This record gives sequence, structure tokens and C-alpha cells, in this order.
Amino acid sequence: MSAIAAHDPSVERLARSLSEHEVRDFDAVFVLGSGLGSFAERLSDARAIPYAALDGMPQSRVAGHAGRLVLGELAGRRVLVQQGRVHLYEGWSPREVTRAVRAFCRSGAKLVVLTNAAGGLRREWPAGTLMRIRDHVSLQGRAPLATHERGAARVWDEALGAALELGARDAGVALEAGVYAALLGPSYETPAEIRWLAGAGADAVGMSTALEAVAARASGARVCGISLITNQAAGISPTPLAHEEVVAAGAAAAERFSAVLERALPHLCAAR
Ligand code: HPA
Repeated sequence: MSAIAAHDPSVERLARSLSEHEVRDFDAVFVLGSGLGSFAERLSDARAIPYAALDGMPQSRVAGHAGRLVLGELAGRRVLVQQGRVHLYEGWSPREVTRAVRAFCRSGAKLVVLTNAAGGLRREWPAGTLMRIRDHVSLQGRAPLATHERGAARVWDEALGAALELGARDAGVALEAGVYAALLGPSYETPAEIRWLAGAGADAVGMSTALEAVAARASGARVCGISLITNQAAGISPTPLAHEEVVAAGAAAAERFSAVLERALPHLCAAR
């Protein structure tokens, strides 16, 4: 594992840029994964800020990632939505992958909800299943923390997880719970890798989220999250998968996914 240098001026630059755009005083941050951006449409009084307008905000070129922040009101709270993230497999460093979430924490974020599209390892979970992230297994071989930072033993917050469950209940949507395995990508896994991951206790597999979760936690925020199972992982499903399928499954489940997040928000804030 490689650690990163202690001081990262680019986080402060981005935090300053957020402040110049009056991105502050929000109750929660939502980081939206591939194909899940439509949650931002639920915000009222919304103001969008393209990443290009922010000093040092890394911008993804992956299809399905809009590349903007949306600040607005939801369920009586002020929320910040990150529509699109960058990944290690695009060539970004751990520092760049976690820069946005660190800057949000610098700007006062105390509650971070991370979401992603993931492959499912459980046969009984069809595409479209929502899974609360109970914990993760990071297999990306990179660490997002500087040597002086202390990682938390528990990254994923149980009380916030329970709040997500209450949101799912209120929305009338089924929410599973499981362990997210983060791999480097960009290729999808082989069936043998999926069998190995299942033996390691993983329920879902993807290429994001773990570094952001560790960095947000180390920056003092509390962290929870949801994976949308967009496909059954390699070898579980008989058909080969494609990125278009992942985006399409996201779109098909967007309504349920967004309803859970919206209904969870008051519970999340109460659990804080
Ligand atoms: N594997 C890795 N990442 C993914 C998958 C998958 O099957 N589906 C969506 N993201």
C-alpha cells in the first residue's frame, strides 16, 4: 500500500473554490454513481455548478457521469449532490479520487452518502436490487490517507445504515445489506475472481467508493452508502456484461433509488 504525502494544497484550493461558489451550510452530501444522477432532479431551489467552474475538481470522462455539483433543498434540508466521480482506472491518483470528498469535509460536511453501480454476487439478487453498504473490502491496492492520518477501524456507520433502512421502509422499497468489494478495474471480473470474492465475503463488486469512504471518515465525516446492483457479476449471470447495461439498469431503478435516499434524509439527519 502506498500512502500519500501529508499536505495536499489542492484540497484547500478546491475548498476555497467551493466557498467562492457559496457551497456551504449543507446537511448532507450525496455522491452519485454511474447512471444514478437523476436523484438531483428531486432538489428544489437547485443550483448546478459544473466541475469545470471549480478550481481543481477532477472530471470523469466515463459515460453516465454528468460532472457537476447540485446544491438545493430536499425534505426540508440543504443537500449537496456530486453528480459524477473519478476513478483510479481512469488514471487518477488516490489523492485525486478523494479530493472532492475531502474538500466537502473541509467545507463542513459531516454526513456523506456514497452510492455506486455494482455487480451482484448473490444469485437471489436480480439486477435492480438495492444494497446498503455494511462494510467494504478494498482490493484496489492503493491507500487514500497520508501517513499522519488515522484511518477508522469502522468506516461504515451503523446508525446511518439503520437510517437508510428506515428510509427504504418509508419509501416501500426493499433494501438489502452487504459487503462491497472495490477492485481497480476497468475490466469486469472473471468468473474465477467472482468465486474468490464470494469466498472473501463480498456481496457486491465495483470500482469506486472505498477510497472516498476511508478519506471522508478520516476527515471526520460519518459515512453510509447504497450500491445499486445493475447486473449479476461474471459467472453468476450467463450473459457477458457491458457498461451500457450498467447505465440502463441505473436508469430503470432510478425512481426507487432516489425515493429511498429522499425518505432516508430526515432519518440520517436525526441519527447524526
Ligand atoms: N463489476 C465491477 N463493477 C461493476 C459491475 C461489475 O459487475 N457492475 C457495475 N459496476
